[in-house]
Amino acid sequence: MNLLPVQKKHAKDPGDTREMVDARRLFLERGFYEPFRETAGEVMRSVAAPGGVFLDAGCGEGYYTRVLAEGMRSYAFDISKSAVRAAAKRDGHTLYAVAGSYDIPFGTGEADFLTAIFSPIAAEEFRRVVRPGGYLMIAVPTERHLFGLKKLLYDSPYENEYRETDYPGFQRLRRVRREGVLETRENEVIRALFAMTPYFWKSPREASLRAAEAESLSTEIGFDFILYRRE
Ligand SMILES: C[S@@+](CC[C@H](N)C(=O)[O-])C[C@H]1O[C@@H](n2cnc3c(N)ncnc32)[C@H](O)[C@@H]1O
Repeated sequence: MNLLPVQKKHAKDPGDTREMVDARRLFLERGFYEPFRETAGEVMRSVAAPGGVFLDAGCGEGYYTRVLAEGMRSYAFDISKSAVRAAAKRDGHTLYAVAGSYDIPFGTGEADFLTAIFSPIAAEEFRRVVRPGGYLMIAVPTERHLFGLKKLLYDSPYENEYRETDYPGFQRLRRVRREGVLETRENEVIRALFAMTPYFWKSPREASLRAAEAESLSTEIGFDFILYRRE
């Protein structure tokens, strides 16, 4: 379903493009982020009651949604039409919609568990849709996430900033870190990984060429899952 009103689109084709969606799908299908999906599931199952309402904001092509939705009544949305189309094709359980995180087509207090995995954190809207006593789980990159890729792209790469952010109406419960090393000798995988990062848009041409030509990559990867309870 497309529930994004025209006046809220702000661009002809908002969100990730078809190319970015295809790149992410190729990369994720190789299983490099499987440990992150496992950890997301563990953190969620530690608090979420089966049968509750699960909502995935900025779900992409549903890589995490498909697993987190098991045993839940599940809904997911993304502002990118291509991402939602890809997600809905592969999953008969979850109801997918094109919609934006800053204007969620969901009633107040209707979600028991909401996730935003590497997608925008619309704290005010999240506070509205998560019921009191419900949960919010976000995923953010660790300081060294993709440092090896940055070394390949840039002469002086820098680490991601570590932040502890509180959101009004939510109590921060815990932060669970999962780290690993990604190694590949496939140029196709390196290009796909590059295309799904913000560096794809920000990098000078020279860096893009390095990614396009790279034949091997070894890089640290890491996600922090941060769990909040709605007060
Ligand atoms: C890095 S991707 C993460 C996708 C998915 N959660 C995953 O981890 O595989 C970020 C996603 O957020 C979506 N997005 C960007 N702005 C958005 C917004 N305002 N509302 C909803 N989704 C948005 C993009 O289209 C993209 O699919």
